[in-house]
Amino acid sequence: MAVVMVNVEVAPNIFRLKAAGSYTGRMGQFYMVRAWDKYPLLSRPLSIFNRDGGGIEFLYQLAGEGTKLLSALRPGDELQLEGPFGNGFPEVPAEEKVALVGGGIGAAPLFYALGEYSAADVYLGFSREAYLVQQFEAATTGNVIVDVGGIVLKQVDFNAYDTIIACGPEPMLQAVQRRKQESASAAKVYVSLENRMACGIGACLVCSVKCRDQRRKACADGPVFLAEEVVFE
Ligand SMILES: Cc1cc2nc3c(=O)[nH]c(=O)nc-3n(C[C@H](O)[C@H](O)[C@H](O)COP(=O)(O)OP(=O)(O)OC[C@H]3O[C@@H](n4cnc5c(N)ncnc54)[C@H](O)[C@@H]3O)c2cc1C
Ligand code: FES
Repeated sequence: MAVVMVNVEVAPNIFRLKAAGSYTGRMGQFYMVRAWDKYPLLSRPLSIFNRDGGGIEFLYQLAGEGTKLLSALRPGDELQLEGPFGNGFPEVPAEEKVALVGGGIGAAPLFYALGEYSAADVYLGFSREAYLVQQFEAATTGNVIVDVGGIVLKQVDFNAYDTIIACGPEPMLQAVQRRKQESASAAKVYVSLENRMACGIGACLVCSVKCRDQRRKACADGPVFLAEEVVFE
């Protein structure tokens, strides 16, 4: 059982939760989180937003019943964390140019990635209100480009990078796939999928993803896939 240290609303309906303890996990991996007994039935997947000697942090958006229960947690309350799960973001040689593209709460796993991609350019797109921009600026020696209400992807030059990693709503990830094709970019382009999940460990098939060769599991084979592999339905 983990214990909540901090759970604060950093923007309307966006919460930052820190749980005390020693946790492992690479950039792009996630934990299955629950702070309830029987209802809702399933734990909820949340990406690692940050991690240090004192604990692990998640950044989450109020979406429904599960995240509503999480948002009511106070310091000292208990929650269950299982993980880390998933394959995470790729390792990239230090000299390569990396772009991280986040749509809304999809920015959460990208922040932790800056520990390794310290010079990455970060593109953040928000529908209504930007959040945590200063934290991103402080965490990278690259540029942080923010768009509110538009399409941040328009600002990404797909030929200016060796690796591009995107996380956000599915239409944005589909657009990333299209841009990679249209620009004939040689970059390795990855998308981190946020499919619904039940077990988180590859046992139930709830998170099935159609890929060009076969169906894969977002929880165990992903959530990070090469953009060209995924068949968006
Ligand atoms: C690998 C992974 C990492 C994730 N990381 C984060 C994160 O760091 N921060 C964060 O806020 N969210 C993250 N999510 C999404 C998060 O898991 C869902 O928002 C959460 O499960 C919703 O639970 P709920 O009970 O509050 O909402 P529900 O009552 O289950 O659903 C409320 C609404 O949200 C939609 N929804 C539910 N789950 C998802 C989902 N997985 N993807 C898209 N829409 C969904 C439902 O269709 C419904 O419309 C991640 C998902 C995955 C698969
Ligand atoms: S969530 Fe069960 S197989 Fe992926």
